[in-house]
Amino acid sequence: MDAELPELVVEAYVRSEASGFRYSCETEVGRLLAALAAAVPPEGRILELGTGVGVGLAWLLHGLGNRTDVEVVTVELDDDIQEIATSTPWPPFIRFERGDGAELVGELGQFDLIFADAPGGKLSRLQSTIEALRPRGVLVVDDMDLGRHDDPELRAALVVAREQLVTHPDLIAAEIHAASGIVLATRRR
Ligand SMILES: C[S@@+](CC[C@H](N)C(=O)[O-])C[C@H]1O[C@@H](n2cnc3c(N)ncnc32)[C@H](O)[C@@H]1O
Repeated sequence: MDAELPELVVEAYVRSEASGFRYSCETEVGRLLAALAAAVPPEGRILELGTGVGVGLAWLLHGLGNRTDVEVVTVELDDDIQEIATSTPWPPFIRFERGDGAELVGELGQFDLIFADAPGGKLSRLQSTIEALRPRGVLVVDDMDLGRHDDPELRAALVVAREQLVTHPDLIAAEIHAASGIVLATRRR
């Protein structure tokens, strides 16, 4: 898809490039996040684990359009990276949390959409992340394409996470072999 990038997303990618941050989500993943954010129910909640410098967040906001009824919580472990993300103004319904996603995910309540984009909450304590989904809530993970990763430990952890998502009794999952490799899973109950 070659539609123009939204302004706030362009700004986020510029921030990513300027800071040398190499882990921002790809545009295909971003567009998926935006489409899913647009479907979040009224007064809904969105969680992102791993804020990075705010590219995924910009896509989520793009999807929300002019809605202000949704709370977006985003968690980042690294102070310096969070500082880059928060160096730009964000709407008040975005809440920045500093800490380990694996620990915080069980304390932040339940969500209609979760983008688990940090090792904590994706490769460790994935079950806590699944439990943080509301019924009919949607979980997105990317960077699942093993062909992109050489580190045997990371590859093994990705295999385990994939297996957990596609076989979990509470989830219905779809693998999307695009961009960095995506698994999208909806909580049935
Ligand atoms: C793939 S990047 C996130 C990119 C961002 N979600 C986006 O779409 O642009 C992963 C981020 O997670 C952070 N991180 C690493 N371990 C974490 C943890 N246990 N809890 C929360 N954040 C963590 C890293 O510092 C990094 O900024």
